[in-house]
Amino acid sequence: MGENMIDIYIMGEHHRVPDSLTILQALEYAGYRLIRGVGCRGGFCGACATVYRIAGDYRLKFALACQTKVEPNMQLAMIPYFPAHQPRYRLSELKGTAQEVLNIYPEMLTCYGCNTCTKSCPQEIDVLGYVSAIIRGDIPLAADISFDCIMCGLCVSRCPAELVKHHAALLCRRIYGKFLAPRSEHLKQRIQEVKTGKFTAAIAELKNMPPEELKKVYANRDIEPEE
Ligand code: SF4
Ligand code: SF4
Ligand code: FES
Repeated sequence: MGENMIDIYIMGEHHRVPDSLTILQALEYAGYRLIRGVGCRGGFCGACATVYRIAGDYRLKFALACQTKVEPNMQLAMIPYFPAHQPRYRLSELKGTAQEVLNIYPEMLTCYGCNTCTKSCPQEIDVLGYVSAIIRGDIPLAADISFDCIMCGLCVSRCPAELVKHHAALLCRRIYGKFLAPRSEHLKQRIQEVKTGKFTAAIAELKNMPPEELKKVYANRDIEPEE
């Protein structure tokens, strides 16, 4: 059975592509060689941020090109880089307070609360939720809500207040990791064991294992019970 071909428009140029392709695959099918705008191909790196409309619908939609299938009459453009303000700071010179986040990103206080950012996020993150947490000084909550952010910048591209909230949220996750997250005693002990060579022979054995055997060992590994 032949492939079902559909019309799409890439940066305004008409192409016919199979409807089974992702946007990323369709771009390559149409002859684009992506250097920027592609990374992991698995929905993790945020490099393939894409904006599109379907002809006849006034609304803009947002997607990761590697995770989204083409649709008939899709009009699309990639935004592989969005120039975002990035204040410089040294985590080692911070004390880990919520006020420091607002000192570094004071513009966060100018959020209009319009929620356009949340509607723009291809990860379906409650962006306004973490912006509000930053404003309230709740770093653990901001870190938690923004945990799946892939730094694509789409939420910034449409923000009427021009807030680089994904970078402010990254600072919250960094502060949480360095200053606020509970310390794991058994992790410290395990690192010490790694340093003193307790696992050197076992790691060498794993490295020499045929892939199929390695997969079995991985599938049968001990997993810590959830608390
Ligand atoms: S789009 Fe900008 S102004 Fe609107 S809620 Fe999000 S951060 Fe605030
Ligand atoms: S929060 Fe912003 S930068 Fe992060 S994934 Fe969503 S749209 Fe992209
Ligand atoms: S290429 Fe990495 S998220 Fe799409």
